[in-house]
Amino acid sequence: MEIRVFSDFKSASEAAAELVSQRLQSKPNFVLGLATGETPLLLYRNLIERCRRGKRDFSQLTTFNLDEYLGLAPIHPQSYRFFMNRNLFDHLDVPREQTHILDGSASDPQAACADFEKAIVESSGIDLQVLGVGSNGHIAFNEPGSAFDSRTRVVDLSDDTIRANSDGRFFKDHREVPHQALSMGLGTIMETREIILLAKGKLKADAVQRAVEGPVTENVPASILQRHPQCTFFLDEEAASKLTKQMLSDSSH
Ligand code: F6R
Repeated sequence: MEIRVFSDFKSASEAAAELVSQRLQSKPNFVLGLATGETPLLLYRNLIERCRRGKRDFSQLTTFNLDEYLGLAPIHPQSYRFFMNRNLFDHLDVPREQTHILDGSASDPQAACADFEKAIVESSGIDLQVLGVGSNGHIAFNEPGSAFDSRTRVVDLSDDTIRANSDGRFFKDHREVPHQALSMGLGTIMETREIILLAKGKLKADAVQRAVEGPVTENVPASILQRHPQCTFFLDEEAASKLTKQMLSDSSH
C-alpha cells in the first residue's frame, strides 16, 4: 500500500487525476472502475477538464461503477446512474453503452448482479478502480461484516451509511434513502489490477487509520486493501491525521 498525503484535498484529487490520466494514456481501451459520492467529484472535474483541453480521448474507455441503490431507476435524480451522467459521462466523449452501472430498478436484481460480473470478465477485468471510503470503513456498499470473497450482490445498508447519505448532500431525509443497494463485492474489487482510494476530512480519519494500520478484518472492509498488490491512498492531511506512522509524502507541502 502506498500512502500519499497532501496539504489539501484539491491537490490530492489532482494527483489522482494525473495517475488516472497516465494509465489511460498507456492503454486506449482502458477499463476504469468508478465510485460515486462526494469524494471523487474533484477527480472527475479534473478528468473533464483534461478532456476539454483535448488532452484525453475517452472514446475507447469502458467503465464499471461500484454500486447503485436498489429500487431507484436510472432516471431517478438520486440514482448513481443519474449522478454519473451529470458529474462525468455527460462531459466526456465516452459512448454511454460503454458505461456500466447496475440497474437499481432491474426486475431480477440478482440476475443483474450476475450479468454485471460477466460483463467485467468479458471486458478482461478492471484495470484501475477508484474508491472512496465510508466513515465505518465500507468500500462500495460492502458494510462491516461483508465477506472478503463477496461478489456483486444485493446488500443491506447500515444505519451509519443511511445517516451519512441523508445529511443533505444527497438525500435530505433519512426516510428517502433506500435501505438496500446492489454492490460490487470485496472479492470483485480485489481482482482489479490497480486501486486508488481517496479520502477527505477528519470524518474519514478513523476509517483510514483502521484500514491502513489496523488488522485485516471483515469488520473494517477497507482493511482488505492491505493485501492488494497495487493500491494507493490519496489523502488530505485531515484524513491522514490519525495515522501513527510518519507518512509525509512528496506532495505534502
Ligand atoms: C460510492 C461508494 C461509497 C462511497 C463512500 C464515501 O459509490 O462506493 O463507498 O465511496 O460512502 O462516500 P462520500 O464520498 O460521499 O464520503
